[in-house]
Amino acid sequence: MKTNQSLLEERNRHIPQGPFNVHPIFVQEAKGAIIIDIEGKEYIDFAGGIGVNNIGHCDEEVVKAVQDQIQKYIHTCFHVVMYEPYVELAKRLNEITPGNFHKKTMFVNSGAEAVENAIKVARHATNRPAIIAFEDAFHGRTLLALSLTSRMKPYKFGFGPYVPEIYRMPYAYCYRCAFGLKYPSCEVECAYFLKEFFHTHISAEQVAGLIVEPVLGEGGFVVPPKEYFGILKKICQDNGIVFIADEIQTGFGRTARMFALEHYEVAPDIVVVAKSMGGGLPLGAVTGKAELMDQPQVGGLGGTFSGNPVACRAALAVLDQIQNKALLSRGEEIGRKVLERFKELQERYTIIGDVRGLGCMVGMELVVDRITKVPATALTKRLIDLCREKGLLMIPAGRHSNVIRPLMPLVITGSQLEEGLSTIDKALLEVCQKESQER
Ligand SMILES: Cc1ncc(COP(=O)(O)O)c(C=O)c1O
Repeated sequence: MKTNQSLLEERNRHIPQGPFNVHPIFVQEAKGAIIIDIEGKEYIDFAGGIGVNNIGHCDEEVVKAVQDQIQKYIHTCFHVVMYEPYVELAKRLNEITPGNFHKKTMFVNSGAEAVENAIKVARHATNRPAIIAFEDAFHGRTLLALSLTSRMKPYKFGFGPYVPEIYRMPYAYCYRCAFGLKYPSCEVECAYFLKEFFHTHISAEQVAGLIVEPVLGEGGFVVPPKEYFGILKKICQDNGIVFIADEIQTGFGRTARMFALEHYEVAPDIVVVAKSMGGGLPLGAVTGKAELMDQPQVGGLGGTFSGNPVACRAALAVLDQIQNKALLSRGEEIGRKVLERFKELQERYTIIGDVRGLGCMVGMELVVDRITKVPATALTKRLIDLCREKGLLMIPAGRHSNVIRPLMPLVITGSQLEEGLSTIDKALLEVCQKESQER
């Protein structure tokens, strides 16, 4: 019988080290918020396939939709013979994404590809070259998306030269404010800095688009102040710059709204989505103002597999299930509980420097010392490993991989959630005790 160890050895023999693995285990089956590995060990899933399983593993309606679709046709290529699920899903996304204007949607296979296409549309529509992105942003791993991504190691290191005409601003990271200010007395200077940026980095009339995550995902679940996106959007609007929201990780209920920008009452010109939309199947989308989306010439956008019909059917089922299972309000409850618990843990463990969140996107940042805020990177890894040993799967985030970012499926039961949170508590205690003994 194969074990995690024997498969790991095969994995290492046949697969390069680049495609990383957080946990040295192999899945046998997964349902709801539970993953069972090939040795039969059961785990509560607080990773959700990096934010893909918002509606849970193997949701019954998604499975039914996929089964039904594969009996009919699996691939014709939308550019050769069109099919209804593509059109139906585009219509649904145009309806549910923020903004009360005529929108159009195109599909791709991943988040990175959605980002790439949004930039293509913005450049084509404005006939300008430059893109503004943010520090701590993660937009994917293809070369343009990677160039927009901020973190050097492990993501960018060794893969340059990067795509030119990308300019980077600090994000509204209040815990580590780049301007050394405090909210609200800062009056959100980090947002107004965009005007200054036009003088010091790139002229506004050369900027095609600004791309931003409403809450940093990979960057560490950083939640900007409520005024932030309204200010950025207004400055973009005043300067003819396309405001692009990357809702790839924040979308489809993760912040207890369908899209995170709803919290900020801001409608982006273009929004890119992927991850949880496909219910586990690879699917991304670019939705934007019709007049922008229609700028590229016929044949200028697309791809062989883009908007695969099986993935589109799965996504239609995902949208229905978010509604049928009332997952937005469930996300609100989960988020409240996690935030409350993390704040309570923060009172007991000094290594928890910051707790922050929006809806169900709640993170804790671990530091060696609350005054110096030195990131507790090694300790975070130990915590995650110990949680796995105790039956809880988590992943890190943040510039220094020192943020715990739960991405549990929103269908997680009350007792699973409770067990997961208690496991974090127990693991924190053990890790901190060991740390103080070693000192
Ligand atoms: C905010 C954000 N944008 C883009 C991406 C890239 O998506 P993908 O991995 O599907 O290419 C990710 C993936 O983690 C993401 O979190």
